[in-house]
Amino acid sequence: MNQVITHPPGSLELISGDFKGKDILSLDQFSAADLYRVFALAREMKELVLASQPSQLLAGQLVALLFYEPSSRTFGSFAAAVKRLGGQTLDIQNPEVVSSVWKGESFEDTISVFGAYTQAIVLRHPLPGAAQRAAEVANVPVINAGDGNNEHPTQTLLDLFTIYEQFGRLDHLKGLLAGDPLNSRTLHSLIRGLALFEGNTVYLLSPEALRLTRDDLLALRSRGIEIVEIHSEREIPTDCHFWYWTRIQKERLSSLDEYQQLAAASFQVTPALLAERANREMILMDPLPRVGTIDPAVDSDERAVYLRSQIRNGLYTRMALLALILGKA
Ligand code: NCD
Repeated sequence: MNQVITHPPGSLELISGDFKGKDILSLDQFSAADLYRVFALAREMKELVLASQPSQLLAGQLVALLFYEPSSRTFGSFAAAVKRLGGQTLDIQNPEVVSSVWKGESFEDTISVFGAYTQAIVLRHPLPGAAQRAAEVANVPVINAGDGNNEHPTQTLLDLFTIYEQFGRLDHLKGLLAGDPLNSRTLHSLIRGLALFEGNTVYLLSPEALRLTRDDLLALRSRGIEIVEIHSEREIPTDCHFWYWTRIQKERLSSLDEYQQLAAASFQVTPALLAERANREMILMDPLPRVGTIDPAVDSDERAVYLRSQIRNGLYTRMALLALILGKA
């Protein structure tokens, strides 16, 4: 279950410059040019939002937000993105309680039903591969909003956009990725995204038990990105461009005991750590929720972008992606 590479090679449709009607399941569908296309449009969306300009780009479009796992930012930003562009959403959170899933309806039937009402389905699900299964069944595009410990491609769009806006490039960067590389889908997609650009290096800092599996480490390294596993805060290079902190994915562990042991061995960002190991130009990111990752005393530091641009960029990049997939941009 912890394997990053859940899809057989070649089973994903590449975007190749044409987003219209495509499912968005994995970062592996994107080229660097595809990412830049999203970012260019995200900048336009940002201007639109900052000017409070009404848009009817998605007028007449209905998007299902089908969330089998709790979510604040991803759900909220997709809903805001559709509505900001004049579209509507059909919101189903916890379908296992509030829909016919409760009566025993199969996942496939639920997907077919909501696909019949809407122009796209945004799906969050606890099982790796669920989005790909949904895409096989649905007759509308499916956007993976997080499938178990596998991938979270739209999170990576906003993360890379945030880094790009800060440094003006996505190549020859150094990043620290901390927390839970084994189970964090945001990290799995982010490493794939960074591997699309030349000369990137990431340092992975986590308790021993939460390292990437050997197979995944080798598979990701073979894409050309340099991945260095480090074991303590003292090994954090002081010239990193970004730090990206993730929480321990409690819900993917087998027991509360295991979680408590790992939490005790995990690393936290404090003002002292920033003062010791960070430089003035870097940015500090977190996909949130923040659970044991970053001391709130750090929030007022201007390098802390997790409650600021990183959040807002989720809205702009999702507006851009939806417009592209629905053939409106
Ligand atoms: C992440 C997720 O759900 O994978 N949250 C998010 O979408 N912003 C990270 C997490 O839950 O830890």
